[in-house]
This record gives sequence, C-alpha cells and structure tokens, in this order.
Amino acid sequence: MMEIKVELAKELKEKPDMSNLPFGVYYTDHMFEMDYTAGIGWHDPRIVPYHKIEMEPASMIFHYGQSTFEGLKAYKDAEGHIRLFRPEQNFTRLNLSNDRLVIPNLDVDFCVEALKKLVEIEKDWIPTGEGTSLYVRPFCMATDVHVGVHPARTYKFMIILSPVGSYYKEGINPVKIYVEDEYCRAVKGGMGFAKTAGNYAASLIAQEKAEKLGYTQVLWLDGVEKKYIEEVGTMNIFFVIDGEIITPALNGSILGGITRKSAIELLKDNGYTVTERKISIQEVYEAYESGKLNEIFGTGTAAVISPVGELIWEDKHMVVNGGEIGPVSHLVYDTITGIQSGKVEDKYNWVTNVR
Ligand code: COI
Repeated sequence: MMEIKVELAKELKEKPDMSNLPFGVYYTDHMFEMDYTAGIGWHDPRIVPYHKIEMEPASMIFHYGQSTFEGLKAYKDAEGHIRLFRPEQNFTRLNLSNDRLVIPNLDVDFCVEALKKLVEIEKDWIPTGEGTSLYVRPFCMATDVHVGVHPARTYKFMIILSPVGSYYKEGINPVKIYVEDEYCRAVKGGMGFAKTAGNYAASLIAQEKAEKLGYTQVLWLDGVEKKYIEEVGTMNIFFVIDGEIITPALNGSILGGITRKSAIELLKDNGYTVTERKISIQEVYEAYESGKLNEIFGTGTAAVISPVGELIWEDKHMVVNGGEIGPVSHLVYDTITGIQSGKVEDKYNWVTNVR
C-alpha cells in the first residue's frame, strides 16, 4: 500500500457548538488528498490541513462536470471508539460512479485505510449527541486545464469531514414530499445510478419548486412514462402496503443506496416481506384510497431514515399514517442508528472500528 504522508495543521480551528449542528457548514482541520496522472496512476496520498484549492478557470471540472462523490458517516460510541458505517460499500460505489464518468478507479481497501487515518486525527470533531455524526465526503474531479470534451488525464481525489446534525429540519419527524410530474432526474442509460454532481444539478429546479409549495423534497418518477417511482432528491423510498414492503428495483436510473440496502437486509431478517420491483404512483394512490398504504419512508446517509407524512401528486393529497412515524420506519431507524452509534449489537458486521 502507498504510504500516506501527514502534515498537521499548525493552528486548529475553533469548534462549533456541537449540540446545535447544522448540516454541511463546518469542516474539520485536516483533509485527505491524492492525485492521478495518466501513465502514473494515483499518487502522493497525503493528509494535510484543510485548505483552498487553486485551479485554472479552464480546468475541465468546471466545464464538463466530470465529478463523483460519496457520503458516509463516522460515529463515536459511549466508550469513545470511532465507528464507520459500511465504508467499503461507499468506496465500491464510488468506483461504479467513476466507471460511468470515465474517472480511474480507486483501491477500496486503501481508501478505507486513508479514511480511518484521517478520522482518527479528527476524532475530537466527532459529535456524540443524538442525531449527530461526522459526515464524510469523498470526491473525485477532473483537473486537466483544457477546453474540449474528452475524459481528463489528471484528477484529484479528496476526503473532507463535517460535523453534522440532521439534514432535514424535521429531524426524525415526517417530511412532506412533492411528486414531480414535469421534470425528470435521469433515464436508463444515463447517469442516474452514479453519484455525480450533474444528477443533483438536474434536480435543483424541481427542488426549488417543491420548497416554494411548502414541501421538503421531490419524489421523482421515471423519465419516460412519468409513471413509475424512482427516488427522492436525497434518499431512496420505501412503501409499506398492506404489510408488505416495496421499494423500486435498481433499474439503472436510481441510486443504489447503502442505507437502502441495509434497510432491506434488516427488514428481511426481521421477517418482513421486502419486494424490489417497479411500483407506479397510481398503485400507491390506489393503496391509499383503499386504506392499505400503511407507511412511507426514505433512506439515505444524510437523511438517515425519514418517514414521509404527506405526499402530493397532481391534485391528490395523501396523508400517510396520520402524518406520524409508523412502526416499520421506527424499527429501521432504531436498528440502523443503534448499530451506527454502538447502542445496538452489530450482528450484520456493518461497522468498521477505527480503534
Ligand atoms: C448523502 O446522503 O450522503 C448524500 O450525498 C445526499 C445529499 C446530501 C446530496
């Protein structure tokens, strides 16, 4: 394995109020950085003080969006041990995204080691309050200085860390979701399954519309027929219909969430029937009309488990489970956050201990 050089910051930042953390505002004292050069490969891995990056205006990332990223979290348990939730899954997915964006692959084990080392240095930045964590943002970008559409020959890979509270202002309370019927996020053959900046750029106009109407997020329908459910802006989605749990199958345009995968595994283990298949918004509405729509919840790293209390689709307004969190959402929330924080036994071996 390549050796990771460490340069520690001469001065440390003042820490924010860890009992009242917003999402994605504060960054720690150090970051990880590594470069790629065609013909050489990834080189010069280093942990350095968090710093500004100087780039030429003609750098390819600004023009053609060759970028990928990940999101995962680090926690500290009651004894002060640092825990990472399924980090190898995130770096494996980063490579899937990189393949789609023609960015060179990274060594998954090396990335996990680099992250462990970085998080260990930044351990005082890991908040311990309920619903808080140290959010980890690994990302890759094209750095060639060149105007012209082709894959770059040089890249940067970085990991930055941010102590965070809940992503939605609602916290664990149910969110209101707007079913988007005008714009689409992705289509099969496109980049929908990849975690790349462009997918989020495509979502902003609909997100803004939903917020103006008083909704927290958008629920995307398929881009061809506007019929089948895909995912919510920052999370995958699950429906509990007549006791069965249904989530859209990964079809190429949906992000393969790691919290999604974990929720499916633990629900099956708890005896629930979980079906990954196509599900139309009409089917959800019919279930609602006949009183069979028990619960809806979203899953995501930033969003954690977020119950959906209201869904609006065209002129149809669905209030789910009386706008309250239901038992299945509760079970998934308690189990996943319990394993993450060390309060629930990690019987699935999902946690990587840092020390
Ligand atoms: C995450 O859940 O980690 C995400 O990346 C979603 C969002 C913050 C972009």
